[in-house]
Amino acid sequence: MGDVNRQWVLAERPVGRAVRESDFRLQETPIPSPNSGELLIRTLYLSVAPVMRQYMLDGAGFEKPLAIGDVMRGRGVGVVVESHHPDYAVGDIVQAKLGWQQYVISDGSPWWMMYKVHQRIAPYSTAIGVLGVTGFTSYLGLVDIGEARAGDCVVVSGAAGGVGSNVGQIARNLGCSPIIGIAGTDEKCRLLTQRLGYDAAINYRSENLDQRLGELCPDGIDVFYDNVGGNTLDTALLHLARHARIVLCGRISEYLDNEEQPYTLRNYQRLHKRMARMQAFFIYELEADFPRAEAAMAQWIAEGRLTYAEDVLEGIEQMPRALMRLYEGENRGKQLVRVDAAAETYGRGGDQARA
Ligand SMILES: NC(=O)c1ccc[n+]([C@@H]2O[C@H](COP(=O)([O-])OP(=O)(O)OC[C@H]3O[C@@H](n4cnc5c(N)ncnc54)[C@H](OP(=O)(O)O)[C@@H]3O)[C@@H](O)[C@H]2O)c1
Repeated sequence: MGDVNRQWVLAERPVGRAVRESDFRLQETPIPSPNSGELLIRTLYLSVAPVMRQYMLDGAGFEKPLAIGDVMRGRGVGVVVESHHPDYAVGDIVQAKLGWQQYVISDGSPWWMMYKVHQRIAPYSTAIGVLGVTGFTSYLGLVDIGEARAGDCVVVSGAAGGVGSNVGQIARNLGCSPIIGIAGTDEKCRLLTQRLGYDAAINYRSENLDQRLGELCPDGIDVFYDNVGGNTLDTALLHLARHARIVLCGRISEYLDNEEQPYTLRNYQRLHKRMARMQAFFIYELEADFPRAEAAMAQWIAEGRLTYAEDVLEGIEQMPRALMRLYEGENRGKQLVRVDAAAETYGRGGDQARA
């Protein structure tokens, strides 16, 4: 990794447009030294999520806005390489808001939302994927917000993305049927049905979504897990079963729209007709439930009932590209960047500090 700390900083705000490479600048600084009460973390993997474009604009409501020149914000998995903090030892693997950089100093205070990584059944990358906030979003969104039950017809938009790639399998493990995924290419649709637990898939770009939902969900949709919003959500409203639940997880199709002219739902009266419920959630409000979600997901992985799809780019240079891929529909499963090529070799084997 060398003796410098490479960091991506915000260079320009993507106002009214997609993110581009020139919105970021890669800078080199010395590796910082931790003081008393602090720890130095070396980044192993960084997560990429659609909300990061929002961080570049206004802070997404729950975070302080980034200034031009600030290090880009984001979660990652890292290894503690120096510690003057009583709760952390060298070799601990942690996941926290590490930012887009190779090294970071933390005081472990609540803002960092730092968790030790204890699981050993899967690669560390999963701590910011299926066994991290992304996986908890899939699980708690479907189970707690969607109240999915055995026999429910479940439809998922953005089904081949980070969140969606888990939702179909969770629905299968709960006994839901049929489970339908919506994605943007035929190749993704094959991934959904061959590997990710979906009974059928709809390519929203080449097929008539309204017609296909009618064919595949003749008794209506009990749970619509929505990652996309806009016209996809509007069309799904036409196919609700009685007492349907709509989980508003995300609305990536609207993120580039002008906020002054937001998408307006045409079919919302269907909620009334079907006595349906539509509920949004913010995953960090459900933090108390993370251990329950992690336990369920880890058990399913151990039993071979949950596979995880990760799309991993190599090297911190790839961070801007990784974020752009989300908006271009390039990623299959959870988009990650491996920042340290030796990531999986740290902290393993007899490291009692992590047990
Ligand atoms: N509520 C919460 O607390 C919470 C937490 C985490 C994430 N989220 C939200 O959940 C959603 C999924 O997050 P993720 O991290 O798993 O991202 P993701 O689904 O991996 O996002 C990328 C995918 O979105 C699809 N997409 C991009 N532009 C689109 C468009 N204009 N119309 C339709 N689909 C489009 C693409 O797939 P296709 O090729 O299929 O189009 C792309 O591969 C996002 O909306 C995110 O903001 C919410």
